[in-house]
Amino acid sequence: MAQEVRVAKTAGFCFGVERAVSKVYEQIAKGGTPIYTYGPIIHNEEVVKDLEAKGVQVLESREELARLKEGCVIIRSHGVGRDIYELLEANGIQIVDATCPFVKKIHHIVEQQIQEGRRVIVVGNSHHPEVEGIRGWGNDTTLTVENAEEIENLPLKEGEKLCIVAQTTFNYNKFQDLVEKFPKKRYDILVLNTICNATQERQVEAKRIASQVDAMIVIGGRHSSNTQKLFEICQKECRNTYYIQTLGDLDPECVNSVRSVGITAGASTPKNIIEEVHTNVRIK
Ligand code: F3S
Repeated sequence: MAQEVRVAKTAGFCFGVERAVSKVYEQIAKGGTPIYTYGPIIHNEEVVKDLEAKGVQVLESREELARLKEGCVIIRSHGVGRDIYELLEANGIQIVDATCPFVKKIHHIVEQQIQEGRRVIVVGNSHHPEVEGIRGWGNDTTLTVENAEEIENLPLKEGEKLCIVAQTTFNYNKFQDLVEKFPKKRYDILVLNTICNATQERQVEAKRIASQVDAMIVIGGRHSSNTQKLFEICQKECRNTYYIQTLGDLDPECVNSVRSVGITAGASTPKNIIEEVHTNVRIK
């Protein structure tokens, strides 16, 4: 039996996702109307399946939204563009807005800066739903860039007024490097760092715990890139690091013979899975 088990405080859902998932359960409790989420509320099959079993349907496209005649649509933490609100309002569909407040803040910035005559440049992955949503608060001049080559090819005019924002999960150092590619002498630039610290805080805490324990457990989906990253970070600090999806993947032998065990989890791992692993490691 491990004598000491430490669970990272930042393990699992970030604030925005936690909030979005609870809004869905609140809506289920209220009942009375069909409930839809626009895209899966979280990248976790178990949670989505549980919600489906409780009657929540996932809609994937704008066309599906447009066909709705009744019910309530929950907008997930990634947020959506203005057109989606307009579409739902026009059709009399109830909106439960679970957009993460940090993302909502970017929407407001984009709207406001455009009104003030600045061209908005979003640094992030143009195919990511969050970035699509942010662009949806911009106008024809709004652009997205992800790397240095893309910046070179931007159709910018000398002296243009720019406002640069970032996708919340963008890497801070990469953002700084890209911002520097916009020559200050050529443009009037306003840079707003809109990166959210949740991912970084989770990584810093995982690294600290992994460096202090005999074995480290990282819980998360096999395809979750943020869990893979956590695993890499922990493995560098602690040779006995184990990557599991659920308790069933954990070989008890690995943690039975050590004095201390650390536990962390990726952004889409629900609390109950973390707790199950915690309880099991503790009482073994
Ligand atoms: Fe999560 Fe919101 Fe940050 S969804 S990662 S807390 S921007």
